[in-house]
Amino acid sequence: MAEQSYTLLDGKGTSARIKEEIAQEVAARLASGKPAPHLVAILVGHDGGSETYVASKIKTCAEVGFRSSLIRFEDDVTQEQLLAEIKRLNEDPDAHGFIVQLPLPKHIDEQKIIEAVDPAKDVDGFHPINVGRMSIGLPCFVSATPQGIIELLRRYEIDTRGKHCVVLGRSNIVGKPMAQLLLHKGNPGDCTVTVCHSRTPNIKELCLQADIIVAALGVPEFLRGDMVKPGAVIIDVGTTRVPDATKKNGFRLSGDVAFGEVAPKASFITPVPGGVGPMTIVSLMLNTLQAARQQQD
Ligand code: GUN
Repeated sequence: MAEQSYTLLDGKGTSARIKEEIAQEVAARLASGKPAPHLVAILVGHDGGSETYVASKIKTCAEVGFRSSLIRFEDDVTQEQLLAEIKRLNEDPDAHGFIVQLPLPKHIDEQKIIEAVDPAKDVDGFHPINVGRMSIGLPCFVSATPQGIIELLRRYEIDTRGKHCVVLGRSNIVGKPMAQLLLHKGNPGDCTVTVCHSRTPNIKELCLQADIIVAALGVPEFLRGDMVKPGAVIIDVGTTRVPDATKKNGFRLSGDVAFGEVAPKASFITPVPGGVGPMTIVSLMLNTLQAARQQQD
């Protein structure tokens, strides 16, 4: 089959432009006497991935002119201690938005933690109030990864209307909200959506029918070249750490897409890294700006 030339969906460059837009709005807010938006992150333990993600979020806050605070707990923190900290942040008018980095240690009920966050400060969009509002298209905080993907599709003017989108993965954070957002009326949106997961028997057959594939299973290089229709749009959410002795830190990030095989068949494709990841972080910044607006304007 003839190879076609593909366009890389540059999340890094796109997020840099959005960060400039946010920084301009923050500067205008400061000039009118309003405080800088303030994001607080709670980090439990020392998981390498979580450390990296939280450090990126804090660094990005500085780049756009936000204030940020990092609250750390050790792995043996009790659920009660975490709930007390969340209550304190819910009541602190100086904290506009906050996140509890997941995953949490096994002895903590993650859902209980998520539901303790005031939905008005839930800039991760994980609280059932925000999830429910998102699913019926009401104003809310939307989970950052699917929101970032929507923004990437919008900025590249990819017409999704009437397209068949296959979402690989059914997580609460990515797969389910991604399917809902692509189902909404409008563009991006108006898709026919199929959600595949570990119990789907005919994934290859379904993928071959897809105009758009969002791969969010966390299985390195799951999507192969022979599973993709020529001209498909490919969004890779995977960021699994795989050992790599040639790297300084001993690992590299692997996407859920076998890029070398899939890219020559795609019309648009996200790289890993530099695709969905930076768009996720900038979406968290947009949610935090929105929280600050709602609490201060
Ligand atoms: N763990 C993986 N992704 C996320 C995210 O978007 N937010 C939080 N809080 N934890 C995560």
